[in-house]
Amino acid sequence: MAIRKAVIRDAEDIRAIIAIHAKKGRMLPRALYEIYEDIRAFHVAEENGVVVGCSAAHIYGREYTPENAGKNVLAEIKSLAVLPKKHHHGIGTLLVKQVLDEAKSLGVTKVFTLTYASEFFKKMGFKEIHKSELPQKIWSDCRSCMKFPDECDEIAMVVEL
Ligand SMILES: CC(C)(COP(=O)(O)OP(=O)(O)OC[C@H]1O[C@@H](n2cnc3c(N)ncnc32)[C@H](O)[C@@H]1OP(=O)(O)O)[C@@H](O)C(=O)NCCC(=O)NCCS
Repeated sequence: MAIRKAVIRDAEDIRAIIAIHAKKGRMLPRALYEIYEDIRAFHVAEENGVVVGCSAAHIYGREYTPENAGKNVLAEIKSLAVLPKKHHHGIGTLLVKQVLDEAKSLGVTKVFTLTYASEFFKKMGFKEIHKSELPQKIWSDCRSCMKFPDECDEIAMVVEL
C-alpha cells in the first residue's frame, strides 16, 4: 500500500469512494468537476494498482479571529474516505498523517476537520472545539447541505502542528 499525490486518472475513483460514504450521510459528496479542480490537493492510497482511499487539504491561510489575529495558519482536512472493505487497516491514519506532514512543511500551524468520525481523529491528536471558534469563511462548502446551519451535527476538531 502506498500513499501518493493524486493525478487526473484518480478522479473517478475518488468520486466513487466519497459517494459510498456520502450516500450514508457520513460526508458531503464531491462532483467530478470539483475533484478535477482540486486534484492537486488530493492524496490517494493505492493497493495493487487500486485506489482504496483519499484525502485532501484546503489551505485557508492566516486565521483572523479577534482573539487570535494572525496567530495561526489554518487548513482543513477534507474528503477523507477509505473503501469500507479496507477499513481498520491503518489506511485512514496514513492518509491523515500525509496531510498533516505536507501541511506542516508548507507552514500551516493548525488543521481542523468537520466530522462524524471523532473517535478516529481523537486518536490522531485532534481535540473537539465549538464550531463558532472556526472562521466564517470555512462554511462555504456547507451552504448546499440540508443540515446547514442549525441542524449541522458534525463535530469540529483541531490539531496544532
Ligand atoms: C474515518 C475513516 C477514514 C478511517 O479509516 P480507516 O482506514 O478505517 O482508519 P484506521 O484503520 O487508520 O483507524 C485507526 C483507528 O481509528 C478508529 N476508527 C477508525 N474509523 C473510525 C470511525 N469511523 N469511527 C470511530 N473510530 C474509528 C479505530 O479505533 C481504528 O483502530 P482499529 O482499527 O484498531 O479499531 C473511515 O472510517 C471512513 O472512510 N469513514 C467514512 C468517511 C468519513 O467519516 N470520513 C471522515 C470525514 S472528515
